[in-house]
Parts: sequence; structure tokens; C-alpha cells
Amino acid sequence: MGLSRTFLILSLVFSSCMVTYGGNFFQEFDLTWGGNRAKIFNGGQLLSLSLDKVSGSGFQSKKQHLFGRIDMQIKLVAGNSAGTVTTYYLSSQGPTHDEIDFEFLGNVTGEPYILHTNIYAQGKGNKEQQFYLWFDPTKNFHTYSIIWKPQHIIFLVDNTPIRVYKNAESIGVPFPKNQPMKLYSSLWNADDWATRGGLVKTDWAKAPFTAYYRNYMAQSFSPAQFNDQKWQNQELDADGRRRLRWVQKNFMIYNYCTDFKRFPQGFPPECRKF
Ligand SMILES: *[C@@H]1O[C@H](CO)[C@@H](O)[C@H](O)[C@H]1NC(C)=O
Repeated sequence: MGLSRTFLILSLVFSSCMVTYGGNFFQEFDLTWGGNRAKIFNGGQLLSLSLDKVSGSGFQSKKQHLFGRIDMQIKLVAGNSAGTVTTYYLSSQGPTHDEIDFEFLGNVTGEPYILHTNIYAQGKGNKEQQFYLWFDPTKNFHTYSIIWKPQHIIFLVDNTPIRVYKNAESIGVPFPKNQPMKLYSSLWNADDWATRGGLVKTDWAKAPFTAYYRNYMAQSFSPAQFNDQKWQNQELDADGRRRLRWVQKNFMIYNYCTDFKRFPQGFPPECRKF
């Protein structure tokens, strides 16, 4: 409650100086691959991606953003989704691209999806955190959001922050902040690694697999906001921090910053307090 109220107030405060795009999928997106496996219907209010043995499918936004907030409601592939991956991410282009990732790794019926997150700056990622969700993401639509500011990146699920990644340039870690990004999404087969590390294969007898999207909203932040020190540093209020801790304690199943095996020589600098 507290957090959504805060966001509501924030949205009201900033709506006057924020540019908001949203609504119609015909206007916002290009269906980029998979032929008619990607579809827009209900007059542009609903989009679906599907995957069959021949191909997956995907779309991308027409507009690009340099900082902003992206919201989308997604209903993930239901039933036996093992082997499938639904991606939803911001990305720039080129070999030194920046990227902010959500990926949903499917599972057999009744077993949990994994929500995988990562951040790339200047072509380098390796900043993974993974989560289970506290609901079944295939029963209803849920909102997945990215807040991207020069100071930090926040990943949210139904307005609950699940991850805050702070800009660590002051200690020499590149941060995505110079390259505008578009929103991309795709549904594809990744049964060589996605489910239990590749042990569970896609059951093609269940194809086509379909995910649904609605209520897209993209907000670009205005130049005036970037001169406002208070706005820049606005992260989470007490309730947001409490919810973030709740998710990280109960639902986080992987954090690169605690993976000793992977970093025997010491953790990346941004993993320490700075
Ligand atoms: C799938 O279910 C298994 C068993 O509960 C679990 O270990 C795994 O993390 C789940 N998710 C994926 C994507 O493998």
C-alpha cells in the first residue's frame, strides 16, 4: 500500500514534466520476428508472442529512451513451460551496448518460474540476480517495471522493488548512461540451459506456447528533472526498502555478489558497500 501510494504521489508530482507514451501496441511496437507468431489484437490493447518447434517470436519498441520508467503487464506461458524463455529488456545497439534485463525461465507445471535479472554496461554483463515469484505468473497479468536513472536502476514486480543497482562509476564500474535504449521482448526455446540448467527439455507436444502483454507505459524523464538533485537521489522510502529486503531474503535464489566459486579472487567492486 505504502509503496504504491508513494509511486502514485511521485507520478502525480512528476507527471507535469514527464513525457508518457503508452497504450496502443500498434503505435508503440514493431513485430520483429516469428511472422504471425507475434500478434497485436483488441485494437492494439493486447499483444501475444508464441513459440513452436519452428520458431519463437519477438517485438521491439519504435521509440528509444535515455533514462525513464517502463511498465508492462505480462501473463507468462502457462502449463508446462519448461525450456521456454520470455525476455523483456531494454537495450542499446552495437558491440559495447548497454542492457537492463528481465528474463523469465519456464518450468514444468506447478514448479516455479525463475525471474533472472542482469545489467550490461559497455558490452559487459555478469551482474545476475535471480528470484522466485510470490505468485503464479501464469494465472494473471502482473506488472514488471524498470526505473532507469543516472544514479541507479530499480527492478520492480507489481510495484515491489526486487533489485536496486546503484551507479558505481565512482569506484570504476561502468554504468549504462550514454546510450539510448529500446524495449525488446521475445519468447524462444532455450532448453539447453533454461530449466534446471538444461535438464528439463521443452515438451513440443504442448506447443504453441504463448505469453500475453498489455498496458505498456514508458515515461521519459525531462531535462529539468536531471538538474534536480533531490529527484535524482530519490530511491526508495522506508516501505520500499522493507519490501526490497523481504524479496531479497525470501525469494532471491542467486546473487552474483555472494557467489564465492565464481569470484575466488574477490567480488566485483560494486558488490561492496561504497
Ligand atoms: C523449476 O523447478 C525446480 C524444482 O522445484 C527448481 O529447482 C527450479 O529452480 C525451477 N525453475 C527453473 C527455471 O528451473
